[in-house]
Amino acid sequence: MRAALDGRGRVGLVPTMGYLHEGHAALIRRARQTTDRVVVSVFVNPLQFGKNEDLGRYPRDLERDLRVAGEAGADVVFHPEPDLMYPAGFASTVQVAGVSEPLDGAARPGHFAGVATVVLKLLNLVQPTQAFFGEKDWQQLAVVRRMVADLNVPAEIVGVPTVRADSGLALSSRNSYLSPEQQAQATALSAALRGVQEAYAAGERDVAVLKRIGLDILGRDSAVQPEYLSVVGPDLTEPAVLSAHPLNRVLVAARVGGVRLIDNLPLLPASASGLGRADAPL
Ligand code: PAF
Repeated sequence: MRAALDGRGRVGLVPTMGYLHEGHAALIRRARQTTDRVVVSVFVNPLQFGKNEDLGRYPRDLERDLRVAGEAGADVVFHPEPDLMYPAGFASTVQVAGVSEPLDGAARPGHFAGVATVVLKLLNLVQPTQAFFGEKDWQQLAVVRRMVADLNVPAEIVGVPTVRADSGLALSSRNSYLSPEQQAQATALSAALRGVQEAYAAGERDVAVLKRIGLDILGRDSAVQPEYLSVVGPDLTEPAVLSAHPLNRVLVAARVGGVRLIDNLPLLPASASGLGRADAPL
């Protein structure tokens, strides 16, 4: 793969599972700004899906992906077949302890080992100087950063703010599973996060209180089934009381119409928060 790029200059990698939306376009545009050659990978990675998850029905539209990637500034789209990534005899996986374990790690056993394995393979294949990941998958970003630091991967990992619809709903390929009514119900996730963000900015530091505020908002719509709402520090664990840190975060996972959605927002003191501006608008 690396040989397809002329050996010089900075190379940006944007790993995706395709069905590209404006959030992916923001990653590609960011890569375009800071690197000379932009590679977008489109690969629905079987290793990161559990047995009863949506691998079979995950949305796919390569033609549209090629257009969106090209318009956003990609030079190359890398679209490997599963056999190329995982040929017969494939036997290695990357386990990242600690940050992989709580939250989605607990809810989706094996998920982050699948993510870390495919991301390391993509980093080895493309050898980028920088790789770009959306902050919407905050825990994934933490897992990738940990892996890259631990395994001396010579790439800088860049996090890019979540892109949202006007309603507050974080963009995700999985939103395509939702009816318009369910999309409206799903705005409860960002509303709950904003409630926690506002309480934190107003000075609340007790994690149980912050979580109660978020869960109460989430519970207002019976169509939303919360899985977790967690208030964490930089290591993704939940203290009883938060100390000031720029990586404090509130994260949520919930199901709407059976579709599992995740989202998160930063927790910043009032002076730094500029509430609502922490994420990129659509
Ligand atoms: O965030 C995603 O789309 C995937 O988890 C990734 C990083 C492309 C790995 O398959």
